[in-house]
Amino acid sequence: MPDVPVSVQQAIHTLKRRESDPLCAYVYDLPGLRDRIRGIVECLPAGCEMFYAAKANPALPVLGALAPFVRGFEVASGGELNWVRRHFPETPVIFGGPGKLVSDLEAAIDQNVERIHVESLLELRHLCDIADRKQIHQDILLRINLELPDTPSTRLTMGGVPTPFGMEEACIPDALALLARQNRVRLRGFHFHLMSHQLDEKCHIALIRHYLESVRAWETTYSLDLAEINVGGGIGINYIQPDRQFDWPGFCAGLDELLQTHSDRAWNIRFECGRFITAPCGFYVSEVLDVKRCGEEWFAVCRGGTHHFRTPAAQAHNHPFEVLPAAGTTTESPGVEGNPVTLVGQLCTPKDVFARRVHVDSLGVGDQVVFHYAGAYAWNISHQAFLMHPHPNEVFIE
Ligand SMILES: Cc1ncc(COP(=O)(O)O)c(C=O)c1O
Repeated sequence: MPDVPVSVQQAIHTLKRRESDPLCAYVYDLPGLRDRIRGIVECLPAGCEMFYAAKANPALPVLGALAPFVRGFEVASGGELNWVRRHFPETPVIFGGPGKLVSDLEAAIDQNVERIHVESLLELRHLCDIADRKQIHQDILLRINLELPDTPSTRLTMGGVPTPFGMEEACIPDALALLARQNRVRLRGFHFHLMSHQLDEKCHIALIRHYLESVRAWETTYSLDLAEINVGGGIGINYIQPDRQFDWPGFCAGLDELLQTHSDRAWNIRFECGRFITAPCGFYVSEVLDVKRCGEEWFAVCRGGTHHFRTPAAQAHNHPFEVLPAAGTTTESPGVEGNPVTLVGQLCTPKDVFARRVHVDSLGVGDQVVFHYAGAYAWNISHQAFLMHPHPNEVFIE
């Protein structure tokens, strides 16, 4: 696991000096995020572009750090659309996600969204009506839930099996017929986001190979000539074995090879990644309030909880962490040494657990537990109002 960066440790010490209550904070390493996104984008083969899926972490400093490096932002609701458009009016936006309201589609057209990823035939009909009414053009991709013959799946699948996401392949002829009856909504290509938490580069290449071959087959069957394929996001973070992360350079080299086998086509391949980009830049810091033993088990009660940091509960995993020892603890402060301990928060529910029965060399009251990979699907997916605890501090290191 990477060490907690020195700048993050310094920010924690500064906060600790400032706060009278035990600490609880999110700290984001923006220079680290910039380095990461620069490296990710630089590796991409020719013809590929990276969008950032705002749902992973839509905080303005995070979007601001990413905007100069990515091709644009992917939004998945009217709320995200308005947020991103208001603060980054010049940045290209693509709009996906299920259950779009007619008012969302109107807003997307009015706000000059570059692509709408259409999820169903009904959504396509709504869009054609709106574009006709407004006498305006809109470019789209059709989101297809592909059958996956033998590509291994991950633990969070949005496709390859029956799901509410996108349309099944059998809908393509109806969608094309609908599009052929009008000339305002233009089909640019296809969109796929079949799984998240992908940790295996070779499996992801196999998945993308399947997308490309499917699009080629549809082009032949339906006499299409399309330039664009959005291959979604879904690159995972290995929370359980942090030393074994997705090999992005290796994946990009494999993708380059794959694209060489389709070199007769000038495809534009788009990614819309979230977790893989921002998870490593965020740290959730939670001070140990109490340590106690109950039967054979040790518990450390920490400031905050899953109402701030739902990621471990949402993923049902032990979240990786590091302990920054308190400066000067008294001998009366309870602690645990060399025993498995369960790290919990302040909520009155046994589900408020960050990590269960994990080994610590030493953990005591006043120590800071720093959870890694808290920069994506963390604060923004948490049930922040529960129990009316105060919100954590938020520090964006520049
Ligand atoms: C359509 C779509 N695109 C992109 C993403 C981003 O996925 P990830 O954060 O796993 O890269 C999601 C996540 O659910 C999604 O549903």
